[in-house]
Amino acid sequence: MILPGSESQSLAVALAGETGESLGVVERQQFADGEFKVTLPSTDLDRAVVVASTVSSAAHVELLQLQDAAREAGASEVLTVVPYMGYARQDDAFRDGEPVSARAVARAVSTGTDRVLTVNPHETRVCEFFDVPTTPIDAGGRLAEPLPPDMTDPLFVAPDANAAGLAETVRDAYGTGTIDHFEKSRDRDTGEVDVRPSDATVAGRDVVLVDDIVSTGGTMSEAVGGLEDPRRAYVSCVHPVLAGNARSKLARAGVEAVYGTDTVEREVTAVSAAPAIAPNL
Ligand code: R5P
Repeated sequence: MILPGSESQSLAVALAGETGESLGVVERQQFADGEFKVTLPSTDLDRAVVVASTVSSAAHVELLQLQDAAREAGASEVLTVVPYMGYARQDDAFRDGEPVSARAVARAVSTGTDRVLTVNPHETRVCEFFDVPTTPIDAGGRLAEPLPPDMTDPLFVAPDANAAGLAETVRDAYGTGTIDHFEKSRDRDTGEVDVRPSDATVAGRDVVLVDDIVSTGGTMSEAVGGLEDPRRAYVSCVHPVLAGNARSKLARAGVEAVYGTDTVEREVTAVSAAPAIAPNL
């Protein structure tokens, strides 16, 4: 039975449709002090598939509750799908005194499950932080689907070298276009991003900026600003976190449309990652 977290309702439905697994309706009770508690629809489970993006600290706790409740309900196998893994970008102690937060949350998730699937983790190596077998799923190819079919001489650009492979995956799935990447640096104190454009010719072309995550929108806004007279500029990402004013920041920068998957369920979610995840269930 698929057990969805509050933040992964649509993806869980899509996964149930793709796989034929039954879909559980989980109830959630909220307490006055801010704590909450989930209740599963069944007390007799064989196999549980917890599907929960950890987009917030509460979502992390909810995922742990779902796993624990599944074991309480007798599940002999608990598979945990973390479509978007929060804290994955804190994959190192960048300064003295800091935690490796990705490792801390991975260890916690590992205690309640037999294996983990996670979609386009920021760095694949975060999978090694889990104490159970963990498989990274590449949903990049899904990002081609919502793109306009009539793009002119499209250029698929990653804002940094790390996302260059993702841009290539989207281009390959789209079927035509060239790829490039910019160079990005981020000030660790202020969070300010500097993106240095490449010398690719952009004028008159449709440009798709591709990244794994769009969070504050700072990276993509900078990247769009570095494009010389594109025909249209689109933003495409696996995880549309879009915190705070990110969406308006992107619009203001001249982005025609933003497309993301349902690993993070937002207004810009345009395609499901379910077909990429389903074969691994
Ligand atoms: C980091 O390297 C990621 O790949 C993204 O580029 C980053 O998370 C985007 O964050 P923001 O939207 O806040 O610039």
